[in-house]
Amino acid sequence: MRADPASAAAPSQEPSGRYRRPAKEAILLVGGKGSRLRPLTVHTPKPMIPAAGVPFLTHQLARARAAGVEHVVMATSYLAEVFEPHFGDGSALGLHLEYVTETEPLGTGGALRNVAHRLTSSPDEPVLVFNGDILTGLDIAALVATHRATGADVSLHLTRVDDPRAFGLVPTDPVGRVTAFLEKPQTPEEIVTDQVNAGAYVFTRSVLDTIPAGRPVSVERETFPGLLAAGAHLQGMVDSTYWLDLGTPQAFVRGSADLVLGRAPSPAVPGRRGERLVLPGARVAEDAKLFGGTCVGAGAVIGPGARVEGSTVLAGAVIEADAVVRDSLVGQDAHVGRRTVLQGAVVGDGAHVGADNEFLDGARVWCAARIPQAAVRFSSDQ
Ligand code: GTP
Repeated sequence: MRADPASAAAPSQEPSGRYRRPAKEAILLVGGKGSRLRPLTVHTPKPMIPAAGVPFLTHQLARARAAGVEHVVMATSYLAEVFEPHFGDGSALGLHLEYVTETEPLGTGGALRNVAHRLTSSPDEPVLVFNGDILTGLDIAALVATHRATGADVSLHLTRVDDPRAFGLVPTDPVGRVTAFLEKPQTPEEIVTDQVNAGAYVFTRSVLDTIPAGRPVSVERETFPGLLAAGAHLQGMVDSTYWLDLGTPQAFVRGSADLVLGRAPSPAVPGRRGERLVLPGARVAEDAKLFGGTCVGAGAVIGPGARVEGSTVLAGAVIEADAVVRDSLVGQDAHVGRRTVLQGAVVGDGAHVGADNEFLDGARVWCAARIPQAAVRFSSDQ
């Protein structure tokens, strides 16, 4: 741990040029089970689900590369085998990628400790850490510069949320130093800040070695509070940029649509920003209406008169004539029958939803399920 440098370096949201050397290495945490996203994560780990036409992780890797990162170590666990065949050594993205798989899930902190030996940075160099499910416009270089300027042990990207009740809170002092890590507030009095952990950090390399090895550790619940209690310097950088945790189906669909619309920044969207993104090989009927950031994957088919709004239709899926799909995700090779309405719903990979069904408000159709014609409605039949 370093000596407290807070008095030597005044923290600033705009650190000067000499602190703007990029961090060259990053760890991506991509081993979670993604249980809130089921059934989308039954066959595909969360970071590999396509958002705006490419596995979500592609957007994060491209943004890290644009910020000067050269070497990324992926901490994998759940469905670990699918990452390397897709991204290989990373050269297509201009990166050097390595993969380290946990034999047992080690949690967010344990995963960091488990891959730290693959880093080549010297002990006092900054290393970026990203949760593999956050879509954000974070100025990565500014977070690294803040870390260098303040001499922190760990710097955290913090974001403000409208309703902090669902989050652990991270209050800071007037110069941005973290003062506590608070559990989800239970009463209005406990809402002492609207700042929450945004899932991107800079660690001084040597701090990673202080995490216990060989057992599950939560970076949020154990490592950060422990460092704070031990007198470490944890710096917060609050900003108001785009931020979305893609942990739930609703958020994932929103994030993909925002990428397509250009509201969320990424250098990796395969096409022009706009109301729709139709990947090569998809077939869309002339009078079908696609809008609101809808993405249609390769080989998917959208039938005549269908309306698809703010939704993600994965590769090989079929939306039949006059179906209405709103704020929903239709999995790979899934089938949505004629006149069926999906609103805020998920249809798992390979599922078959017959004609004249209605799935609303968080409904999840499991992978490969068979729903007969006119079997499910959320409203009385007219
Ligand atoms: P839920 O099960 O829906 O909560 O999702 P999750 O499993 O992804 O958990 P969470 O959203 O809290 O995880 C935050 C980040 O850490 C994600 O990028 C996960 O992939 C990653 N992560 C969570 N647990 C582990 C783990 O045990 N090992 C590794 N390598 N990564 C993890």
